[in-house]
Formats: sequence, structure tokens, C-alpha cells
Amino acid sequence: MNFIQQVKEKAKASRQRIVLPEAWEERTLRAANQLVREELATVILLGDPDDIRSNAAKWKLDHINNCTLINPLDHPKKQEYIDLMVSLRREKGLTSGEAGKLVEDPLYLGPVMIKAGNADGEVAGANNPTGNVLRPAFQFVRTLPGISVVSGAFFMILQDAEFGEEGILVFADCAVNPDPDASQLAEIAVTTARTARHIGGISPRVAMLSFSTKGSAAHELVDKVTAATEKAKTLDPGLEIDGELQADAAIIESIGRKKAPESKIAGKANVLVFPDLNAGNIAYKLVQRLAHAEAIGPVLQGMAAPINDLSRGCSVDDIVTLAAITAIQAAGMKK
Ligand code: ACO
Repeated sequence: MNFIQQVKEKAKASRQRIVLPEAWEERTLRAANQLVREELATVILLGDPDDIRSNAAKWKLDHINNCTLINPLDHPKKQEYIDLMVSLRREKGLTSGEAGKLVEDPLYLGPVMIKAGNADGEVAGANNPTGNVLRPAFQFVRTLPGISVVSGAFFMILQDAEFGEEGILVFADCAVNPDPDASQLAEIAVTTARTARHIGGISPRVAMLSFSTKGSAAHELVDKVTAATEKAKTLDPGLEIDGELQADAAIIESIGRKKAPESKIAGKANVLVFPDLNAGNIAYKLVQRLAHAEAIGPVLQGMAAPINDLSRGCSVDDIVTLAAITAIQAAGMKK
């Protein structure tokens, strides 16, 4: 069974309630249809129900009949959600009038429904930039206890099974935090290890990447990575982690043995944590294009409930896969 089949099987086992706020969008509606047809999730669509039904008929998407349709402009729980929003952000100065406008925006309604316990997860971004999806999530769902930053991991499915976990490597942060400090980088390491375990079924071996291996270079950027490695060990004492390591020392056994002979991770890493967003985002795109790897994600981690952001160039299959991953995250959080 390949990675995506495994993810779908896991999602099917728990059938979580996934909100898709961009229901007017063709790929999203087709993905909703497929999610219901394959019994991967219960789907909640936000948008004008008449438009959704008419598009479903036009595109012959019969399973949309089995989705819950909610009109953000007019539904029975609107006032309840406005009150919840105000109670969550009164200290930030949110007024009832402002909340009344925000709640009509599907990208706000989705996270608020999750916060109210009426949905388990959300996938959005097929037609919105990252910030528009993340900001409502950051404001109303917030982070897990003990975690202050949300970050984004990619499962990189390589053609070459020699690397990582039989050809799978998990990269982070590739999506959210431009310049994490040592404490934030430590949190990114710990949450990425959890993502690798829960979504990929991988026992994580985490390499904290740098341009230096075990003191081969001296620089404050290297110090950040060594400090983050120590902090991550404190946050999760059982975590198999080492750093700072160069990328080749992290993933190639012969080089790991030579450059970091004492390390249990060098040469065997299956989770790669990058020192900043420049490195992480550039690395995943280069590996995807030059090595023809499949890049699945970003899987957002560290949030108190799963909300995942699509690339605007996503396909229907990408939405389905990310919704299945979101469902697994939601089921894991309930446990
Ligand atoms: N984790 C948790 N909460 C956060 C995070 C984070 N990483 N970043 C910001 N927040 C919270 C803040 O604490 C704040 O909360 P508050 O209002 O309760 O005080 C709220 O979110 C807004 O914070 P701002 O600093 O104003 O954040 P802003 O809205 O300006 O930016 C954003 C957030 C959009 C995610 C920004 O970090 C960003 O643009 N990151 C880069 C995203 C990107 O372009 N990625 C590359 C493309 S994605 C790809 O290629 C796969």
C-alpha cells in the first residue's frame, strides 16, 4: 500500500467532520464529492446552498447531496458564533459588530465552527493565499498547550528508497515561520516528529540541519541550531534527535559516519528540520522538482485543531489527500 492509500485507510477508520469553506470553487466541490464517495470524511460545505446544489448538478456530483451545506450569511448558529468570537478576542478589542461581519466570511466561519465543537478540521486555500487561511485559525483556534508556533511539514516521497524511511522524508518548517528563534525551532522539531509518527507511521529520527556538522563551523546561526536541539530534548526527552548536522551528514550513512561518528541520527535521519523558512521552502521545492519527489503538504502542526492550507495550484486529488490527513490529525487529537 502506498503512502496516500495508507492515509486514506486511516481517515476512513474515523470519518471526521471536515469543513471546506471554498465550496463555490470547482476543485473543492469535486474533492467534497470524492471524500463522501470514498467515505473518507463527513463534509461540511460553506457557501450559498442554491449555488452549491446547482454547481453539483452541472458537474454531476451526486454525493454532494450527502454533505452538510451551511450558508455563512444566514444560519441558526450565527449569533452563537458571534458571541463565541467576541468572548475569545474581547481582550484584542473585537466588537460584536466586527465579529458579525467576520463570521460571514467562510474562512472565519470554518475555524469558529471547529472551536465551537461543530466540526473537526478544515482544508482551505485552493483560492486564497496562505495568510488568509492561517490568520483566522491563529486567532480563533490557536496553538496546542505547550506549543507557541504553528509550522508546516511536507512528506517528501522520493523515487529512491535508499533515503529516509524507505524513501520518505519529512521536511519542516517549509511554510509558516520566516525566522524562528531557537525555542520556536525546538517546537518545530518536536511537532514535526509527532506529525511523522501520527500521519506517516514513521518512528522519527530528527536531524537539525545547518551548514555545519558538530562544530565544523562557528557562527551564531549554528549556535541557534545547537541551542534548538538541546531545547527540543528538554521538551521531549524521548525524542531521537541530533544536531547540528549538514544535510549530507544527516541522510547519507557513509558521510554521517565520517562527519559525526558518535551520532545515532547522522546518516539515518527521516525528519529534517531546517533552520529557517528560506532553507525549508527552497529545499522542498528543489527536491520536488529536481528529484521528481512527490511533496505532500504542508501539513500544519501545532494548532489546537487541524486546519490545513492548500496551494492555489492544487488538484482535486491534493485536496482529497490533505482532507484525509486533516481527518487523521483530528482523530489523533481526540485521543
Ligand atoms: N503560530 C501561531 N500563531 C501565530 C503564528 C504562528 N506561526 N504567526 C502568527 N501567529 C498569531 C499571532 O500571535 C497573532 O495572534 P493574536 O492576533 O492573537 O495576537 C496572529 O497570529 C496574527 O499575527 P501577525 O504577526 O499579525 O501575523 P500575520 O497575520 O501578519 O502573519 C502569516 C501570519 C501570514 C502566517 C505569516 O507568518 C506569513 O506570511 N508566513 C509566511 C507564509 C508564506 O508565505 N509561506 C510560504 C508559502 S507556503 C508554501 O510554499 C507551501
